[in-house]
Amino acid sequence: MVFARYLVEPRLFTQLPPDWAGIFGRRAPLTVEIGFGNGEFLTEEAARHPEFDYVGFELSLTCIEKACRKFHAAGLTNVRVVRLDGRFGLRELFPDGSVRRVIVNFPCPWPKARHAERRLVNAEFARTLAAVLEPGGVFELTTDALFFAEEARGNLAATGCFGIEGPLEIQGEPRTRYERKWRARGLKIYRMAARKLGPAAVERIAEGRMPHVRLKTELDKEDIPRKVVGLKEVWPRGAFVVKEAFVAPCGDEVLLRTFATDDDFQQQFFISVSRDAKGWIVQLDGATVPFRTPAVKRAVFAVAKRLEENGVEP
Ligand SMILES: C[S@@+](CC[C@H](N)C(=O)[O-])C[C@H]1O[C@@H](n2cnc3c(N)ncnc32)[C@H](O)[C@@H]1O
Repeated sequence: MVFARYLVEPRLFTQLPPDWAGIFGRRAPLTVEIGFGNGEFLTEEAARHPEFDYVGFELSLTCIEKACRKFHAAGLTNVRVVRLDGRFGLRELFPDGSVRRVIVNFPCPWPKARHAERRLVNAEFARTLAAVLEPGGVFELTTDALFFAEEARGNLAATGCFGIEGPLEIQGEPRTRYERKWRARGLKIYRMAARKLGPAAVERIAEGRMPHVRLKTELDKEDIPRKVVGLKEVWPRGAFVVKEAFVAPCGDEVLLRTFATDDDFQQQFFISVSRDAKGWIVQLDGATVPFRTPAVKRAVFAVAKRLEENGVEP
């Protein structure tokens, strides 16, 4: 129930980046927290700064639920959360120069070399920060993993857009669950702050419009799975594969479970192939709307092309 008040589902928006002033019902400086966990820090911050609006990204639904309960208990109106990879969310949901602060507390450090590309503050994320922060806006990272903070510093410095302080060891009361946990184990805690000095831009890949194709040919519903299951394409920045098909027992519709990847951002969704009064149409199914990225659009158009090639002349 508390979800309804705080959870935003930007996949459903037909315009990206979304109108945050419309969502909050006012125009206020924006702070973003990525990986807010149980929401302890986000709740305290939002309560302490009612003049700011806060957007949190988190992958775990359990964490989102716990955080929303805290927001509700505190009576907050200046927080929204999105269940999404914060790297993608920060780039696709905020225009250049629109965010005052970005906060990351205790990100998963992924210490093994073979997992390095999973680390949050990679080169692409540093370019995103350089673009979306306002002039003078700040990125704050707190972590127990000094190697992580130093690598983040290197990636931020490489953009040439930041004045950077730290990482420096900090003392004081723990602000988050993980800070409490690591301090109890005697670990040192480090903070780094990067202030944006110069302008930058970043390429965005998601858009609001829904791809669809009207077919000129007639189809045999039972034959659609054979034609498109296994259809896949791989190109330097993406890939898609149609994994399986579900044929509706009644009515003319087939749903195609599809995976699409744009760089390291993966989505799973259904493509609907259905018939209405005007004929067959290939489009995204409304129950699992993905972000309309190049890989998603390419999957829809490739399915339509394959069916058109193999269709029956009406
Ligand atoms: C180690 S926990 C820290 C939680 C909290 N910040 C704290 O200090 O207690 C990391 C959190 O980041 C979330 N997370 C990891 N990668 C993420 C990403 N790419 N986008 C959003 N959240 C992410 C995880 O689900 C997890 O809740």
